[in-house]
Amino acid sequence: MEKIILTGDRPTGRLHLGHYVGSLRRRVILQQSGDYAEIFIMIADAQALTDNADNPGKIRESILEVATDYLAVGLDPEKTTILIQSQIPELFELTVYYMNLVTVSRLERNPTVKTEIKARAFDQSVPVGFFTYPISQAADITAFQATTVPVGEDQIPMLEQTREIVHKFNSVYGQTLVMPDILLPEKKLWARLPGTDGKAKMSKSLGNCIFLSDSAVEVKERVMSMYTDPDHIRVTDPGKIEGNVVFTYLDAFVEDSHFADFWPDYSNLDELKAHYRRGGLGDVKVKQFLNRVLDTELEPIRAERAKWENNINEIVEILHIGTKKAQKKAAETLQAVKEAMHIDYFGKSYLGGNC
Ligand code: TRP
Repeated sequence: MEKIILTGDRPTGRLHLGHYVGSLRRRVILQQSGDYAEIFIMIADAQALTDNADNPGKIRESILEVATDYLAVGLDPEKTTILIQSQIPELFELTVYYMNLVTVSRLERNPTVKTEIKARAFDQSVPVGFFTYPISQAADITAFQATTVPVGEDQIPMLEQTREIVHKFNSVYGQTLVMPDILLPEKKLWARLPGTDGKAKMSKSLGNCIFLSDSAVEVKERVMSMYTDPDHIRVTDPGKIEGNVVFTYLDAFVEDSHFADFWPDYSNLDELKAHYRRGGLGDVKVKQFLNRVLDTELEPIRAERAKWENNINEIVEILHIGTKKAQKKAAETLQAVKEAMHIDYFGKSYLGGNC
């Protein structure tokens, strides 16, 4: 069977290094691998609205930001279909039929949704749309007949929910939907890059992000003020690697060639870590090195972004074409779903005939 990828992001702001390490970088590799017949990347604006109903302007603006970030990191519209969720009504029709296959108590057990409800302090006022977004996400995945869904660990419950819906649908109505598999990040560390302040997560409201669209000066400022080891006071003091954000970022980005290029005193990260642990190595030097490593990675992205920023209409056109192509696929799936349920009353399951 042909392999098809579907994944996506909620457009709630510009994308940052956490997104890059956790998913974007991998998507480009998957795109280049040639292993997939089709790749769909969804800008999940309808899902973003489930907890931003009062702020559609923010979601609207973020759609172009996210699309520009996609193109800047190397997603190629010739190979990857980029689409806007809300413009594909078939997804919402599928959602309605899937809702009948899921219980309220099953949704209540979804650990990611639980965590998000707490984080947003919804208490008793959880919007129904938010509560049910895992079902809508199952529609996203199945509509494009995805076999493979590359996402972070926080999305495991969504994939489980989707697989349950596929199983239930196929056993009630007959084999129709494709059973998707999750594709998790290769290394645990990459699943979630911490904020520059050492907090577990990069978040815009905490001001601890490095955005893909940040200038070289902004990145340097963030790196130089990064959280390290609070007990590493004098250069001669032994330093700790665990929980030291500078080293976590090096783990995610550094290659041996960076040492050859920028810091030939060491041949790899293990040697650098050993020196830091022993003592005699100051934070500033390590930060300067990290800054050069990040700059090597981010400069081409920045340059590419600058080109696209002068070409907004072309980006909109890419989104329009991608969305139309994706809609065609979703319409095929919806048709198959309706036929399986025998509710295609004016077509194959004609109401006037027997079925
Ligand atoms: N829930 C995902 C997130 O918060 C975004 C998303 C929406 C998604 N629909 C999807 C991811 C379908 C994978 C597949 O990042």
